[in-house]
Amino acid sequence: MAGEERSVKVRIDNVKRIFNTRNGEMVALNGVSLDIMENEFICVVGPSGCGKSTLLNIIAGLLEPSSGKVYCDGKEVVGTGTERGVVFQQYALFPWMTVKKNVMFGLNLKGIKGQEAEDIAMKYIKMVQLEDFINHYPKELSGGMKQRVAIARAYAVNPSVLLMDEPFGALDAQTRTQLQSELLETWEKERKTCFFITHDVDEAIILAQKVIIMSARPGRIKEIVDINIPYPRTQETKMSPEFLELKNHIWSQVYQEYLEVRK
Ligand SMILES: Nc1ncnc2c1ncn2[C@@H]1O[C@H](COP(=O)(O)OP(=O)(O)O)[C@@H](O)[C@H]1O
Ligand SMILES: [Mg+2]
Repeated sequence: MAGEERSVKVRIDNVKRIFNTRNGEMVALNGVSLDIMENEFICVVGPSGCGKSTLLNIIAGLLEPSSGKVYCDGKEVVGTGTERGVVFQQYALFPWMTVKKNVMFGLNLKGIKGQEAEDIAMKYIKMVQLEDFINHYPKELSGGMKQRVAIARAYAVNPSVLLMDEPFGALDAQTRTQLQSELLETWEKERKTCFFITHDVDEAIILAQKVIIMSARPGRIKEIVDINIPYPRTQETKMSPEFLELKNHIWSQVYQEYLEVRK
């Protein structure tokens, strides 16, 4: 019987990125190639400074590669686009807009206005359980709530891929765990393609179907680890022997790279 046919959502083809710094040229990424398949949840881990954010920003179209190319749905990425939604660690909400207006912002940009935009915004505000806060401003919300708004805003425009750069990195452990569970639930329902950066190995394994381990600078893909733990996954999954085995392996690989950085 034929296997499940899945198409390539994002193709990263031999990407290199050089930065000009005070100390001359610095190669941040080199020879990075990766196919992100449709509906896939990929997490990227690696030591600080290995180029994770650089790679995400190149996929988002916020940075250009020095050489190599990125394709989304077969089209070369040039600049940002609504088919690629981004969530950053810092909430990046408009402080002068209410929760509802923040979520509606991207819809308006897409030309969706009025009642239709409100209805879509409300659907995603409900998804992140903030329906009692639609008229609140960001400064009236906790860190976890702000990040929920950012996630709702990213989902609302229905991008074909979600790019998340340590979205839970600034949150306390309990809130982080809560948002992981919510994101898992949402992903299981919608199977939206996700490219998620974290430095937390537990977070990577609980969420992802594949964990990409990046090497110390210049950033390269060191290893791709398949996470064959069935969904639905819960916080108890973190106690299972298969989880702990993966954690040991990935953690030691990342730690080796961390030691490289310190040399
Ligand atoms: N705009 C920039 N100009 C110069 N150097 C940069 C710039 N952005 C990132 N870098 C450097 O590139 C390397 C990779 O950075 P980054 O992608 O942010 O790493 P990570 O997200 O893995 O911590 C780091 O050494 C960083 O200092
Ligand atoms: Mg980063």
